[in-house]
Amino acid sequence: MSHCKKPILVTGGAGYIGAHACKALATAGFTPVAYDNLVYGHRQAVKWGPLEEGDIGDRERLEAVLHKYDPAAVMHFAAYAYVGESVENPAKYYRNNVAGSLTLLESMRSCGIDKIIFSSTCATYGMPEQIPIAEDHPQNPINPYGRSKLVVEWILQDFAKAYGLNFVSLRYFNAAGADPDAEIGEKHDPETHLIPLVLDVALGERGHLDIYGTDYDTADGTCIRDYIHVTDLADAHLLALKYLLDGGQSDVFNMGNGNGFSVREVITTVSRITNCEITCVESDRRAGDPPILIGSSDKIRKILRWRATYKSLEAIIRTAWRWHKK
Ligand SMILES: NC(=O)c1ccc[n+]([C@@H]2O[C@H](COP(=O)([O-])OP(=O)(O)OC[C@H]3O[C@@H](n4cnc5c(N)ncnc54)[C@H](O)[C@@H]3O)[C@@H](O)[C@H]2O)c1
Repeated sequence: MSHCKKPILVTGGAGYIGAHACKALATAGFTPVAYDNLVYGHRQAVKWGPLEEGDIGDRERLEAVLHKYDPAAVMHFAAYAYVGESVENPAKYYRNNVAGSLTLLESMRSCGIDKIIFSSTCATYGMPEQIPIAEDHPQNPINPYGRSKLVVEWILQDFAKAYGLNFVSLRYFNAAGADPDAEIGEKHDPETHLIPLVLDVALGERGHLDIYGTDYDTADGTCIRDYIHVTDLADAHLLALKYLLDGGQSDVFNMGNGNGFSVREVITTVSRITNCEITCVESDRRAGDPPILIGSSDKIRKILRWRATYKSLEAIIRTAWRWHKK
């Protein structure tokens, strides 16, 4: 079956992961239509198809765009993703992430679009009961951000049952790195992700790095996380899209690297790659940070035949550094 030049609506297509997905879509012969209100996105990150400015909560605007392009499917990245802010202001998160997604799904339904790939998160699991975390691990999110994503997973399941929606939910671990051609990269404002924060210190744009907790039960006492390269993540979206276009059943997959790296390993690797000394300040643990989060990606490897290209921390950080220097 040929999927050539089919439009795909990419909500949040001006954001970090959405923009990388747009590049992967265009490379594979699709037309990515970025739908973004630019609250956090960057106009200049939309390079591989049209940008339609709009909010996922605006049904009229959404339906106009869906009618204009008649996309074969939707990739849904648009959301707020600051865990701390979600605790302070849960209404903002439920409004945007849950109500916004519901409006998107209702608009799709009224326009006859029945395929969606959703950005879920390992935050839907909450505190891990075993490592690595597989898809059947209990989902007990411990903050409103994680809960807002879990509610959307439930809505997708109910829409699939009642209305014949076809979905793939991808539960990402920590997205990291940048486009290997350095055309796009990670730029959140405010930045809370470890690798860009350490790179900012290397560049002298930030005075020091805070390490939250050095007394965890891990080899060097700092937290361990699973970093998945953003291009590998974009490739998984493409595989999920082809799977749905070929009639695949709705399903849920973890998106991790299967490897864990500690905060100190990230710092040491950045220091080696950039040749810069990283000034660190050791602080107390943050509430709700599990010592180790590592995902199992066996299921997506088996069913979608996905493979990670960037497995080592070194390879991931090299692409991030090339982009960050620009
Ligand atoms: N970055 C990670 O490590 C990570 C991990 C797990 C899950 N996720 C999920 O992946 C998705 C993308 O994350 P990201 O890091 O690229 O974030 P990002 O902030 O860079 O991108 C999100 C984009 O969505 C847009 N947006 C937000 N609300 C909108 C609305 N109401 N209408 C239209 N556009 C809106 C923003 O302007 C932004 O461009 C999010 O859903 C996030 O929850 C990210």
